[in-house]
Amino acid sequence: MTDTNLDAFRTRCLARIESALDDILPAVSIPPSRLHEAMRYTVLASGKRIRPLLAYAAGEALGVDAALLDRPACAVELIHAYSLIHDDLPAMDDDDLRRGRPTCHRAFDEATAILAGDALQTLAFQTLAEAPGLCAESRIRMVETLSRASGSRGMVGGQAMDLAAEGTPIDVVMLENIHIHKTGALIRSSVQMALRAQGDLIPEQAERLDHFAKCLGLAFQIQDDVLDVEGDTGAIGKTAGRDIELNKATYPALLGLAEAKEMAANLTQEAHRALEIFGESADPLRWVANALLGRTH
Ligand code: IPE
Ligand code: IPE
Ligand code: MG
Ligand code: MG
Ligand code: MG
Repeated sequence: MTDTNLDAFRTRCLARIESALDDILPAVSIPPSRLHEAMRYTVLASGKRIRPLLAYAAGEALGVDAALLDRPACAVELIHAYSLIHDDLPAMDDDDLRRGRPTCHRAFDEATAILAGDALQTLAFQTLAEAPGLCAESRIRMVETLSRASGSRGMVGGQAMDLAAEGTPIDVVMLENIHIHKTGALIRSSVQMALRAQGDLIPEQAERLDHFAKCLGLAFQIQDDVLDVEGDTGAIGKTAGRDIELNKATYPALLGLAEAKEMAANLTQEAHRALEIFGESADPLRWVANALLGRTH
């Protein structure tokens, strides 16, 4: 695909996801207004929408109609938004800034932020259960996929491990386990949404796409750790150096900056290799992988 086509693909996907998110979030005029305002404040801020982009790009590789992925892509983004609200709470990373604006508990209050996170999580599963155009089997499998990826054996489990590791010495195997769970699981589930939407999958394609997503998920969190060290607060839109302040287990802390960067690059290469059996239809996935490695925020 040409750069122009990839650009058009990105613009199309972003327009779809922004409009779908706006549709499914309750209006501020509906009570409880403050809660709905907090939910909209967080979700409709300027996120990169990486997870929805991955779902659409995997759909493109498999020939799945993008319209079938609008709601599943929203569902993953809603879980992500809820995880960010809770990640920033005083009891967790205690952060004041997110996407260049005050965090949800700073803009509203702590109780509203907790409840907004709770409501976004349940809205994610409601959105999957009600997703139009998909058969019941696909919707159930998506609910299963997203609940596993989000729960104590996925994102929430990773967050628990991340907090438990603060200030304690850990090795690279333990660190990889934290990152795979707290961030990798949700990224992997984004690609899996496209797999679940497809009735008859070719097993090798499914395995390759899943391997691609696993590599990318880990590379993504390593890059997040690198940006925490290298970026400045203005550019990354959150408090630079926060992970260091909190004595978090990160790749730069454990391996040094150069080795952490090399690891993210190697994982991105491995992600590309996983796509070798695909033709042009996987170009959007290749493009996302490169964009994540080269990102500045
Ligand atoms: C930040 O995720 C939190 C992590 C899981 C590392 P993103 O970098 O995808 O955040 P937004 O959605 O673009 O703000
Ligand atoms: C966040 O990891 C992971 C989740 C929200 C699940 P971080 O704590 O490193 O994310 P940032 O740096 O605050 O965005
Ligand atoms: Mg955290
Ligand atoms: Mg954090
Ligand atoms: Mg971070």
